[in-house]
Amino acid sequence: MRASGMAEAKTADRPVLRVMSGEAISPPPAWMMRQAGRYLPEYRATRAEAGSFLDLCYNPAFATEVTLQPIRRFGFEASILFSDILVVPHALGQDVRFVEGEGPRLDALEGRAQFERLREAGDPAIFSHLAPVFEAVERIRGALPHETTLLGFCGAPWTVASYMIGGRGTPDLAPARALAASDPALLDALLDRLVTVQIEYLVRQLRAGADAVQIFESHAGVLPDSADGDALKRFSLGPIARMVGGIRAEVPGAKIIVFARGSGLDGHARVIPETGADVVGVDWGVDLAALRGRVPATTVTQGNLHPETLIEGGRALDAAVDAILAATEGQPHIFNLGHGITPQTPIAHVEQMLARLRGGR
Ligand code: CP3
Repeated sequence: MRASGMAEAKTADRPVLRVMSGEAISPPPAWMMRQAGRYLPEYRATRAEAGSFLDLCYNPAFATEVTLQPIRRFGFEASILFSDILVVPHALGQDVRFVEGEGPRLDALEGRAQFERLREAGDPAIFSHLAPVFEAVERIRGALPHETTLLGFCGAPWTVASYMIGGRGTPDLAPARALAASDPALLDALLDRLVTVQIEYLVRQLRAGADAVQIFESHAGVLPDSADGDALKRFSLGPIARMVGGIRAEVPGAKIIVFARGSGLDGHARVIPETGADVVGVDWGVDLAALRGRVPATTVTQGNLHPETLIEGGRALDAAVDAILAATEGQPHIFNLGHGITPQTPIAHVEQMLARLRGGR
């Protein structure tokens, strides 16, 4: 079969890819951000067997196993590669650790001297470090049901840079914003390097078998000041647009989701026009009906159940699922959470969410 013929056949069989191409499907196909995670006992068991979180990420057999767990249990229409956005700074040579109960810790990048010690884009050591990720993608695609879409991913340059500079997640991202003020050229160099490296990273995931990719801009809500007053464009949507262009130059027609968490209704409305993405991921803080009212009817949305409503369950959960269906009726939409699922979420509530969604209203 011709390559384009293969791509068309895949799209026809995979509901998530059909929606990404603009088709409205009722009920919408679903997956959850962080769907492989600590709320699942089978994840906790594999995680314990693997040792550390990074050992789990870099072992293709274990990474494949945990990626498949939520698909087996819930039959989600999309699967997301199990890894983390911080394997890229690790591949650039920065020290990355995950501290139990505290989250990620990196050796904070404080200035030029440390930046110069990072691997340059084009250094083959970066992609030999990441080789287990591509092997996991190949294995996962081979093991998934044919109709399940496989998503690859990475972090957006600003979000990854903010962890590299701060060394950890901080609510106000003070270290990254301070660097933007004291040495803006250094921040630009870091963002540029992440753009270049992560274009290749996502291209390699697509070539290994990912059907589409998601770019996680989890920190779009906290940005440095920009001289032109448009910080969202300068630090977030601009670098993401360069990534989208770079990926499509290598993989024409590559399907891309951009999730710019915390960018507000205006920011969400700008994502597709300003980055060229196919899908706008919607966070829980945005009124989905209001967003759908502002963007063209052809816009593909994804989201946005509040993870706390999923913990709450009961009638609040049914009502929230119904509201998402009502806001997106007749329009191309992929059902998801408005941020990642948290460890304390009852599995029964995930089942209830899917029953409500798939049972129609
Ligand atoms: O969605 C999936 O199932 C795929 C896997 C995935 C993980 N992290 C696994 C993970 C994805 C897509 C990510 C993305 C990621 N990682 C983001 C962007 C999305 C978001 O949540 O905003 C960010 C900011 C990170 C960085 C990161 N990794 C943090 C802040 C933490 C600690 C938070 C926590 O829940 O502990 C991690 C760890 C992490 N990444 C876990 C998982 C399943 C939990 C680690 C564990 O098992 O101990």
